[in-house]
Amino acid sequence: MTRHFLASLRLDHQQAEPLYRQIYLRIKDAIVQGTLVANSRLPSVRGLASDLGVARATVENAYGALMAEGFLQSRGQAGTYVSAQLLKVPERRESSAVATLSTPAPSAFQSHPAGPIQPFQLGLPALDAFPRALWQRIVARQLRGTTMAALAHPPPNGLLELREAIVHYLHLSRGIVCQPEQVFICAGYQALLELVINALLQPGEAVWLEDPGYPVTQPMFSAAGMQIVPVPVDKQGMDISAGMIARPNARMAVLTPTHQSPLGVTLSLARRMMLLDWATRQSAWIVEDDYDSECRYYGKPLPPLKSLDRQGRVLYAGTFSKTLFPALRMAYLVVPAEQVAAFERCSQLRGCGCPPLLQAGVADFINGGHFYRHLKRMRLLYRQRRAWLAQALTQRLADYLTVAPQAGGIQMLVHLKAAFNDSELAKKAWQQGLSIQALSDWQMSASAENGLLLGFANFTSYHEAERAVARLAAIIER
Ligand SMILES: Cc1ncc(COP(=O)(O)O)c(C=O)c1O
Repeated sequence: MTRHFLASLRLDHQQAEPLYRQIYLRIKDAIVQGTLVANSRLPSVRGLASDLGVARATVENAYGALMAEGFLQSRGQAGTYVSAQLLKVPERRESSAVATLSTPAPSAFQSHPAGPIQPFQLGLPALDAFPRALWQRIVARQLRGTTMAALAHPPPNGLLELREAIVHYLHLSRGIVCQPEQVFICAGYQALLELVINALLQPGEAVWLEDPGYPVTQPMFSAAGMQIVPVPVDKQGMDISAGMIARPNARMAVLTPTHQSPLGVTLSLARRMMLLDWATRQSAWIVEDDYDSECRYYGKPLPPLKSLDRQGRVLYAGTFSKTLFPALRMAYLVVPAEQVAAFERCSQLRGCGCPPLLQAGVADFINGGHFYRHLKRMRLLYRQRRAWLAQALTQRLADYLTVAPQAGGIQMLVHLKAAFNDSELAKKAWQQGLSIQALSDWQMSASAENGLLLGFANFTSYHEAERAVARLAAIIER
């Protein structure tokens, strides 16, 4: 099979796509489509380079990228192989390890108060670092240039110029190839989920959700009459085997594969492949909530599920809440090409809910290069601000908690060491004006998880982080 595939591997020297990337994409496609199966051996770097008539470094780069993403493994002297872990199907066990259905909403979860930003407040990017003056100029220019046509009804799926800008951005930054008509602009994540539910689900159908998971998701599906299947999350992300055992015929899985909310783990490549395989066999849907992949400060995130989706099962959800600011209420959904008509019918009824003036402003912000520059600055800033909080916590509270490692994101998870009740602690902190959340309040099934979720993006100095930690320490030590 390997020999056959490699014999058909042709490079196009006229293409703008660099040669190493062409090799990378062909091999990745062959693995995703099952032409190259787990454990098959690839030719040596030197062998392939000579067969293809390219430099060794070109093949080395392609193999290196595929290894970093987990598609290939080096087995030393024995050579380079397609990873063994891909597509391991779980054994069917009789006992259901996962509790299903009728799960109450995590009751103690609190949404943030309006008004001044509180220390540790979750879900906020660094608002002080947002280029407000530039944004004001862009929106004012849009306003001044308003045409008569722009006063009529806007397109229900979002302005074309914004959808085109998103297509371009997703291609460059996440390797997702899609057309503007596949993109739907929505007024935030909740509106996006409502659109997905209306277009694809019937009441009573089962949906896998991560447990613990983002507390906004479960009430949305419960309110729409869906059966909730909480699926545990471990170090490799959502436990797909557990979902398949608990409810193999679910209609949808909703998850945060790049940076699991709230545990921060990444869905392993083996599980990505298993999930895609399950969705294809069951004709089920996957909602990939890629809410903060831009806020990564070490390494590159794994390619999104959407970029591996050959069967049109993945709906990709992104948001401008973390990259720009949450008050925009602007998110976007990329749907499979075959589903565009169904989504268009639903969005005709609902409208997109985002003012066209702001959509045009965001399109301008992206097309003018400001978006990319802002993200680059933010990655460095978040790394710095996270380090301040981690240092302050370690110096003051090392006896009580440990800071979980993370490669990205704008909130921190700390595990409580002693027998604290995280929920009680969060409530007390809340009363003192510290906007902390308890990990167990993000959990649907009863569990021994005991941790705190802390936002750090708005600490503008080490001393600010230190002062907030001192206030938290006073509560813990009391
Ligand atoms: C897990 C997760 N998904 C999605 C979102 C996006 O939400 P919205 O676009 O409504 O601000 C967030 C924002 O905090 C989030 O944490």
